[in-house]
Amino acid sequence: MTRIAHISDIHFGRIAYANDAQIDIVQALIDDINAASVDLVVVSGDLTQRAFGHQFRAARRMLDAFDAPTLVVPGNHDVFPWWRLLSRLFDPLRRYRKLISSDLNPRVELKDAVVVGINSAHGWTVQGGRITASELDQIRHGFEGTASGTARILVVHHHITKLTGLGDHDMVKGAEQARALVCEANVGLILSGHLHIDHVEMIEAEGNRYIVASCGTSTSSRGRGKEGSVNLYNLISIEGSAVDIETKRFNSAEQLYATQSQQSFVR
Ligand SMILES: [Fe+2]
Ligand SMILES: [Fe+2]
Repeated sequence: MTRIAHISDIHFGRIAYANDAQIDIVQALIDDINAASVDLVVVSGDLTQRAFGHQFRAARRMLDAFDAPTLVVPGNHDVFPWWRLLSRLFDPLRRYRKLISSDLNPRVELKDAVVVGINSAHGWTVQGGRITASELDQIRHGFEGTASGTARILVVHHHITKLTGLGDHDMVKGAEQARALVCEANVGLILSGHLHIDHVEMIEAEGNRYIVASCGTSTSSRGRGKEGSVNLYNLISIEGSAVDIETKRFNSAEQLYATQSQQSFVR
């Protein structure tokens, strides 16, 4: 069995309960994931609120505190903000590359899964993001040579798929080309963030089927709508063709993440 923790939209700078000295939600997240003995921690972007150096350093400390290796992609909040216009245009992810990872399209092979990340956050797009040619190539080639029974997992901050259970929501520019390659590469699971809404759905379209897990904000006070003060992460277990996704929600009274829901799929 392979186990993956999927966290997202950490947003250092807007951490929930930051004014309450009794509550440390980031430490609770680290403790819960380390206790789960996962094989990989996936972070689907927006590690910071404003791409400040101290926010990235806090994110680095969190990543280093996980026992398992990490696979991280940037989010739109990790590019320089608009008032750093030249940096935003010419080297938007400089701090991310220096303090988090120089690899913007990372790839990891696990026992039962190949996990491929792509960057959708660029300086010259607005918050909706964009999938460019190099990221399309990463989808095209990242799963090459993967054995047929192995789960193929794509990680991208912005959404490339319309989730029917969510009503209107943002989709990234280039989503259509990315979806076509996802189907060609037989990707079975897409892990995204950005919406700050937790939702898991099996998508069936044009003869293809894949699971999309949208992770809410795992640690920040920026939840949207009725999820305004909700913090969650997903614990994913893969065994053969079975995929179980346990969604865990932070309980501030107990200072731990407790099971909110559990969904089982067959790839
Ligand atoms: Fe976010
Ligand atoms: Fe975002």
